[in-house]
Amino acid sequence: MAESGSAKLTLPVGGIEKTIELPIRVGTENEPAIDIASLRAKTGYVALDPAFVNTASTLSGITFLDGEKGILRYRGIPIEELGAKSTFVETAFLLIYGHLPNKAELDRFSLMLTRHSLIHEDMKKFFEGYPSTAHPMAILSSMVCSLSAYYPDPVDTNDAEQMEMAIGRLLSKVRTIAAFSYKKSIGQPFVYPKNNLSYCANFLNMMFAVPAEPYEIDPEIVSVLNLLLILHADHEQNCSTSTVRLVGSSKANLFASVAAGILALWGPLHGGANQEVIEMLEAIQRDGGDVQKFVNLAKDKESGFRLMGFGHRVYKNYDPRAKLIKTACDRVLAKLGISDPLLDTARRLEEAALKDPYFVDRKLYPNVDFYSGIIYRALGFPTNMFTVMFALGRLPGWIAQWKEMNEDRSTKIGRPRQIYTGNLVTPYVDIASR
Ligand code: ACO
Repeated sequence: MAESGSAKLTLPVGGIEKTIELPIRVGTENEPAIDIASLRAKTGYVALDPAFVNTASTLSGITFLDGEKGILRYRGIPIEELGAKSTFVETAFLLIYGHLPNKAELDRFSLMLTRHSLIHEDMKKFFEGYPSTAHPMAILSSMVCSLSAYYPDPVDTNDAEQMEMAIGRLLSKVRTIAAFSYKKSIGQPFVYPKNNLSYCANFLNMMFAVPAEPYEIDPEIVSVLNLLLILHADHEQNCSTSTVRLVGSSKANLFASVAAGILALWGPLHGGANQEVIEMLEAIQRDGGDVQKFVNLAKDKESGFRLMGFGHRVYKNYDPRAKLIKTACDRVLAKLGISDPLLDTARRLEEAALKDPYFVDRKLYPNVDFYSGIIYRALGFPTNMFTVMFALGRLPGWIAQWKEMNEDRSTKIGRPRQIYTGNLVTPYVDIASR
């Protein structure tokens, strides 16, 4: 991390004007930052930045994102290349270990994921306790947290083997838990993982096979699932990843930290948006299909309505993931011979929004969630499983970020400050006198 000069800040301290110097740090892609860590100690001031709109919370070598140019790279490799050439398992290795695996490394990693796919038989009983209406994200987060109960030994983050085991368990078992929570919701028997199948094929089999008849795994579907999971695999310091880091900074274990990330992802402004997009498109259809009416509604601040799947905190250009998903969407629907009227509504909505000055001025483009739900529908996933699919895809990113943070000796517990705006010292009033 290069240090490149300093910024001078002049401000009143105790009635006297004081000038201090703060170091400027520059990332490998020339992103400049003012390091304010010493600001309070030098001046008594803190920085106020609600929602971290302008705050870099960490240094990280995992993912590079340029929201203005619409660039996304994992460990330097463009997302477009990974989407075209890699698999989800290989990309997971890349994110977590920092380089593309050689053949032996990939085989070992894949074997690890195959070996750890079963969940403890007792954990199956947990599923019985949930109502059939339970949202699979509620089940997923609690089951992932429960893994801490089955593997309670602390993981020494400096011990490569212990780390590998924890990572393998998590990546492999979340896939099984996700499929089991779906089976529970539709009242079908659980389908156990099969060791002869690849990561994505195994997941599809657990989701859609039934004991009564064989399930044909379509390689085209396996390929698009790989693509979708790769595109979701990391996105630097978003809401859920920051949650994983914050929780993990207290030295909470990997399962607990990721369970917290899953809950952050669930929110409709984050990963939950993919479910909301489909529900919005269905609502537009039920209403007669007038997309302009909904664009107008989204522009009306009083309505409280937003175009779901539009806008992003950091992308002020077309989300590169949405671009790839849109293309894949056309390919998959054509291949499966599906004509989904929601795709037509989505396209018309996008067209109407992208030529509307409200969306143009605010640089609001479709994000990753806008078209992903349409593919998942075509593949047979129910709407309430979309965010679970996002979580499955995001696992390598959460793990890589948790690992990076734990390996950094300078990591401290995350603990923002605040500016207090409440009462000044106030005497306690006895209840009889209130
Ligand atoms: N529809 C209508 N207006 C919008 C939308 C939208 N989807 N998104 C942003 N705006 C408007 C805001 O009202 C605001 O307008 P103003 O300047 O007149 O006040 C302006 O655009 C900037 O929006 P902010 O809310 O300040 O942007 P922020 O970075 O805080 O929010 C977010 C980003 C949460 C993604 C937002 O765009 C949104 O709510 N989108 C819909 C939900 C969604 O798709 N979430 C998924 C994001 S991708 C992901 O997490 C995986």
